[in-house]
Amino acid sequence: MSDDDKLAAMQPATQAGHLGRDPAAFLGAVNTPVFRASTILFETVAELEAAARHEHPGITYGLHGLPTVRDLQSAWARLEGGHAALAVPSGLTATTLPLLALLSRGDHVLVTDSVYGPTRRFCDTHLVRYGIEVSYYDPLAGTAIERVFRPDTRVVFTESPGSLTFEVQDIPAIAAVAHAHGAFVVLDNTWATPLHFRAFDHGVDVSVHAATKYIGGHSDVLLGLIVANAATHPKLHRLWTDMGVTPSPDDCFLALRGLRTLATRLAQQQQSGFAVARWLAARPEVAEVLHPGLPGARP
Ligand SMILES: Cc1ncc(COP(=O)(O)O)c(C=O)c1O
Repeated sequence: MSDDDKLAAMQPATQAGHLGRDPAAFLGAVNTPVFRASTILFETVAELEAAARHEHPGITYGLHGLPTVRDLQSAWARLEGGHAALAVPSGLTATTLPLLALLSRGDHVLVTDSVYGPTRRFCDTHLVRYGIEVSYYDPLAGTAIERVFRPDTRVVFTESPGSLTFEVQDIPAIAAVAHAHGAFVVLDNTWATPLHFRAFDHGVDVSVHAATKYIGGHSDVLLGLIVANAATHPKLHRLWTDMGVTPSPDDCFLALRGLRTLATRLAQQQQSGFAVARWLAARPEVAEVLHPGLPGARP
């Protein structure tokens, strides 16, 4: 059985313990070490040119993805079922870069009203400045989102569960409508993570994450991840390269380490979150508890 077949046979939580490793490349070390470099030297011009054409295992400059960055990217893309991933210095870079890459002057974008506040501020301040029209829709719209579509709508930005009201969006329904209108679906999947929602199985084109949160897990790393399908990856990769927004290999190392314990921490977090939510729901002074998993909660 090849390593790839072995991985494919594993549950996602087990995969998270194994993805993004290449011991043979690092003296047998189980995990990819922190690999720091800027300039890359080549013995010959021919080797440099082969690397630039991706025919050589190396890269031509540190910004283009050192092994620690690359291994985190490949692990995350595989876990979520996307084509390829890009690591960026923050979750906010992850939410905003796809909007810049996929939208142009004269386009319209539909953004969920439950979107993370700073993503909304970016849309209202910068997208608008570049001549892109932004409107917000009810996160619970489902197929009814069709009513607010326009001929120039190019992207639907979703976030599920949403900040901080935790509406769970009907992503397959929204994706079906968006694709029928030729628009891409971007999902901020920070709250669910690929362990609870494999975005690409449900019609998402680009899934973004604040790795700062559950993946880092210890409040000591700022990092974002963008996973793209084959249709959107070239545009995103072009902008990522041209803006030079590659994160530090130290942060990617911490995120890879966080990935090993992600499933265990999420399970505990869910148990603790439910205990607090149930306690709050039983308090007479509490009017409503916004927890998508409680009976009677909004969808
Ligand atoms: C849903 C969501 N998206 C994006 C971000 C942005 O992440 P960062 O703080 O790494 O910029 C956050 C951070 O709180 C978040 O909760």
